[in-house]
Amino acid sequence: MSVKIKEMFSISGKVVAVTGAAGIIYGAISKALAANGAKVALLDIMGDKVHSLAEEITADGGEAIGIECSVLDAGSMTGALEAIIKEFGACDALINGAGGNRKGACVPPDGTFTDLDVEEVDKVFALNYKGTVLPSQIFCKHFAEAGKGVIINTSSMSARAPLTNVPGYSNAKAAVTNYTQWLAVQVKVDFPDADIRVNEIAPGFLDTTQNHSLLFESDDKTLTPRGKSIIAKTPLDRFGNPDELVGPIVLLMSEAGSFLQGITLCIDGGFDVYSGVGPLDEKR
Ligand SMILES: NC(=O)c1ccc[n+]([C@@H]2O[C@H](COP(=O)([O-])OP(=O)(O)OC[C@H]3O[C@@H](n4cnc5c(N)ncnc54)[C@H](O)[C@@H]3O)[C@@H](O)[C@H]2O)c1
Repeated sequence: MSVKIKEMFSISGKVVAVTGAAGIIYGAISKALAANGAKVALLDIMGDKVHSLAEEITADGGEAIGIECSVLDAGSMTGALEAIIKEFGACDALINGAGGNRKGACVPPDGTFTDLDVEEVDKVFALNYKGTVLPSQIFCKHFAEAGKGVIINTSSMSARAPLTNVPGYSNAKAAVTNYTQWLAVQVKVDFPDADIRVNEIAPGFLDTTQNHSLLFESDDKTLTPRGKSIIAKTPLDRFGNPDELVGPIVLLMSEAGSFLQGITLCIDGGFDVYSGVGPLDEKR
């Protein structure tokens, strides 16, 4: 029988829970998933934002609910799963999107690594690592009972070759990658009869409203020194945008990705595979 490519990539009718859905990246991804037929549960500590995003998606003809909850609290996540089942009957996929860095967890501009505030590093570690482990524990029970499920985690370029000054974020995202690989195997150990797929994306450098001023000077055209060094190491010669994460997420969520397990999809314009040494820079 020939492969029906359109059907393979379909996410129509799939129920997906997205943590960090009030944020820049997963807000955009949630809208795109809903516009393509998924029923989206928007999970975030910012309740107002996810409720208004759910209204916006519904007004556009999509299906979504906003749920205020914390990825660091088991009771809160269990409540979120119950609300999803009540609304949509089941859950097919969990996207662990909540994460990020804190200013206090960076090497201070006027100090060195020895001045690092490890309490702040702990908080960053908790959000990115525990905030991925705990929701997947809770949703995995449901996936095991249902006999199937998909988990997609969010790592970063900083997990692979750590960026200077941000040890907590880099170390925590490296732990997320390691956890993705570990869980991809452990789900088969623990739930041999269920088809639970676990993978992750590692976004590269995106030009979003949040970090635009880190990449461009105030004229919006000239790159900052940081922006220049990123572009110099990006073979595709540009920053990405959140919509470019949608295709890879759909691949991991849909039947098209049915034999993918434990992988990291780097969505980075080639940043990860270029050493930065060679003639590329001279040609630009
Ligand atoms: N922006 C980038 O260029 C980039 C690159 C690589 C990876 N990432 C990762 O992608 C993900 C999304 O990034 P973003 O730029 O959209 O960040 P963002 O700050 O816009 O969104 C993060 C969201 O997580 C939510 N959140 C924080 N604590 C929470 C908690 N305890 N429970 C539930 N929700 C909580 C926040 O309210 C926010 O809405 C993060 O995991 C981030 O580390 C981002």
